[in-house]
Amino acid sequence: MTPDQIKLVQQSFSKVAPISETAAVLFYDRLFEIAPQVKAMFPADMAEQRKKLMATLAVVVNGLGHLESILPAASALAQRHVGYGARAEHYPVVGAALLWTLEKGLGDAWTPETAAAWTAAYGALSGFMIAEAYGRSQAAE
Ligand code: HEM
Repeated sequence: MTPDQIKLVQQSFSKVAPISETAAVLFYDRLFEIAPQVKAMFPADMAEQRKKLMATLAVVVNGLGHLESILPAASALAQRHVGYGARAEHYPVVGAALLWTLEKGLGDAWTPETAAAWTAAYGALSGFMIAEAYGRSQAAE
């Protein structure tokens, strides 16, 4: 990611922060619409889950400028996800739901540059998490 892309991701995420609860509802609704098979993996009460997701995204977004500080936590998160039943092929689906949510949440602020910056950010994070959890060969696929 370029420094400009990091700035774009951080600026756009700060616009979503005030509506983070709504954004999280939108995200999971979208995820379960495009990947109904993953719904059973999540707890029935999603309130806590929504908070955790948005809090973690905030940490990642804030850490983009100094990646080395968030990699250990991202690695641990990836390992926990193996236990939740997450597989490498789920990551692109989660990424698609995330980008869709940001597009809805940001409206006119969702420019092609912002989309490219988020695609790069999610690609880097998910590539790292997949490699940590399932090995480098899966991440390259
Ligand atoms: C970069 C991508 C992702 C991020 C940032 C993320 C973030 C989180 C966070 C913060 C939690 C709360 C629990 C914890 O911290 O361990 C969580 C739980 C969970 N995630 Fe993810 N996740 C990602 C990708 C995925 C994928 C690809 C799946 C596959 C379907 C998935 C499925 C789940 C499930 C099922 C839980 C709930 C576990 C439980 O409470 O029983 N996540 N995720």
